[in-house]
Amino acid sequence: MALDKMRIVGGNRLQGEILTSGSKNAALPLLAMTLLTRDPCELTAVPDLLDIQNMIKILRILGVDLTFLNHTVNAQTIKLNQVEAPYDFVRKMRASVLLLGPLLAKCGFARVSMPGGCAIGVRPINLHLKAFEALGAEIELKEGYVEAKASRLKGAEHTFESVTVTGTINALMAASLAVGESVFHNCAQEPEVFLTGEVLSKMGATVDGAGTKTIRIRGRNELKGFRADMIPDRIEAGTYLVASAITEGELFLRGANAEHLGAVIQKLRDCGAEIVEDVSGIFVKGKKLILPLEIQTAPFPGFPTDMQAQFMVLLSLARGRSLVHETIFENRFMHVAELIRMGADLKIKGPEVTIEGVQKLKGAPVMATDLRASASLVLAGLVSEGVTEVSRIYHLDRGYERMETKLASVGADIVRIMNQPEVEK
Ligand code: EPZ
Repeated sequence: MALDKMRIVGGNRLQGEILTSGSKNAALPLLAMTLLTRDPCELTAVPDLLDIQNMIKILRILGVDLTFLNHTVNAQTIKLNQVEAPYDFVRKMRASVLLLGPLLAKCGFARVSMPGGCAIGVRPINLHLKAFEALGAEIELKEGYVEAKASRLKGAEHTFESVTVTGTINALMAASLAVGESVFHNCAQEPEVFLTGEVLSKMGATVDGAGTKTIRIRGRNELKGFRADMIPDRIEAGTYLVASAITEGELFLRGANAEHLGAVIQKLRDCGAEIVEDVSGIFVKGKKLILPLEIQTAPFPGFPTDMQAQFMVLLSLARGRSLVHETIFENRFMHVAELIRMGADLKIKGPEVTIEGVQKLKGAPVMATDLRASASLVLAGLVSEGVTEVSRIYHLDRGYERMETKLASVGADIVRIMNQPEVEK
């Protein structure tokens, strides 16, 4: 698993239908929310991904009774064994920071390793901690761990200095068991935040404004269990939209929600792709001529940073000069060097990449560095001449369910090459 590779022979047009999986970034917070109640919880359409498996491992260590079968999680927290999320887990998945809010709110104490950086940036959590302090928590940093404690959190008014998706979600989870009402300003508006608010309301907290910049939440002493169906994964869907656009394909993404992909769909249309949205999914037809354009990443509803690497492949084949400006993460151009090795004409200037369109890309052995960069290398392989081998695809497995199966089912020449057994990194 750890050293598997993806081998792609480029040149096939993709045609057919792909079923969109449930959203990883919706499932991760909702799994953490099972800590907030003693009642049973059920999550459906949960994608089977490395990040989900890791979160499940941590929850079981903390003491949650949890089963995961056929994309359904059943979980119940009767009694916690511990309130510490060890470094060994957190270093593999920074989304473990989502355990802080629920543990602090439910147990009055939490000890979670600082996530440490990852390939795309330092990834601090200061904004999460400031929100917890606003609710009355005492925060201490000890030997690389965050220790948060509070006998009982109290509702407060708090403005996030800058937009943070998991920071907004963490604050809502903590405030759901606080005394009184909290109002959070400058919140993230991602669909995953909207779903978090919906589920906390189902659990008994009164939440207004989730999905907008200002969210009000009234905490409760106890929260009820919940059943929740994951929203479709908008980044997985966006990735396959680009796969169709670059291969002059005709794909139907069943279950994809066009409302979660407005900025991406608009940019694909601006590039010349034909897109039809309906209640059951999104149809995309790629064209031979790809028009160049400028992209600037931004918090939802802007163009998602998680689609920047994938879109760079499309713009590498456009007729003319394009520009990509990454405003969210400080180091999210790890895919650029690899795409250059495949023949793309890219120049990094600080937070911007200038792209001169080329006629074709050429297959090459390349290495994945982070989740979305690895997706962009697979996309490049689909449209390159010759063979591309993408190594270290455990990055891919963190966020894409059975990518090779889904792509092969619509005509891609792609196989996973199993390599030596798991080597604990
Ligand atoms: C979420 O990460 C997503 N992960 C990321 O997706 C996504 O790229 C990101 O939002 C932006 O959309 C999950 O939802 C699990 P942020 P998150 O806090 O919440 C800085 C993927 O591919 N910041 O919105 O960690 C931060 O460094 C992943 O699935 C602080 O400075 O992102 C970044 O520059 C990758 N202090 C910016 O804010 C903080 O306390 C936005 O980060 C928190 C964040």
